[in-house]
Amino acid sequence: MNQVAARGRLVCTPDEYQAFKRFLRDASGIELGEGKEYLVTSRLSGLMRQHGLGSMRDLMAALSGGRQHRLRAGVIDAMTTNETFWFRDPSHFRLLTAKVFPEASAQRLRIWSAACSSGQEPYSISMQVQEYRINNPGKLIGDVEIVATDISSSVLDEARKGVYSGMSASRGLNEEQRQRFFSPHPDGLEVRPEIRRRVRFQEFNLTRGFESLGRFDVIFCRNVLIYFPSAAKRDIINRMAKALQPGGYLFLGSTESLSSQANAFEMVAEQGGIAYRLKE
Ligand SMILES: C[S@@+](CC[C@H](N)C(=O)[O-])C[C@H]1O[C@@H](n2cnc3c(N)ncnc32)[C@H](O)[C@@H]1O
Repeated sequence: MNQVAARGRLVCTPDEYQAFKRFLRDASGIELGEGKEYLVTSRLSGLMRQHGLGSMRDLMAALSGGRQHRLRAGVIDAMTTNETFWFRDPSHFRLLTAKVFPEASAQRLRIWSAACSSGQEPYSISMQVQEYRINNPGKLIGDVEIVATDISSSVLDEARKGVYSGMSASRGLNEEQRQRFFSPHPDGLEVRPEIRRRVRFQEFNLTRGFESLGRFDVIFCRNVLIYFPSAAKRDIINRMAKALQPGGYLFLGSTESLSSQANAFEMVAEQGGIAYRLKE
């Protein structure tokens, strides 16, 4: 019997839930807790309707087919939490200005925004660079490249457009920043070209090897590791330590911290913000 019941409610049996949890962990590293069947069915029902899939069993069969790239990407898009906003945790941006930018002087700076969602994080970093250069003539004169990656193709599409409206054009920004960093656009506000120029977006899954991305001076990996089990978190941080230049900085979300890998890094606390500096 079709499991989307006559009243339209999608059902997920315990076996289907376990199979889906395994799929999501293998595909994205994201670990669903127990008892989240409702989250799964509520996030997937629209996508399943679009693909003509009537039950979780049909979905799992289609995903195991291997040729369903669009469906797979759609499931990952639906299951990721993409909440973000401008200058999230402002103390991190103050720390960039107080510590990281002055140390860079004339050298090239490569920054990775490792789960960039719809772009607010990497564009905020680029805005901070702009601001720093205006306030400190002759400083930070080397090229600054911001590589912004995410597993979700739909948030990357939004990020590349660089046009924001409603809450996403206001949360975290004051009026002066809106005037300075954006131009009016028929659909809201568009990030100005001088801010966009530094940022390059790329689809990238953090569970894969980082070698293709090169080495970085700064990594922002904020508010994503919370979705991964501890072994995967440890693995990602170990690999980030290898992707950082000696003396490079790792920023985590304000509720996240380094635990067992802490001896590779020293904690830097400045301007109310915390970052982890890779020992030289
Ligand atoms: C809550 S948002 C955080 C955005 C931003 N870093 C911030 O702090 O505002 C988490 C992002 O992590 C992304 N994500 C989840 N799993 C991922 C993975 N395996 N590889 C890359 N990105 C992932 C999601 O698509 C989502 O956009």
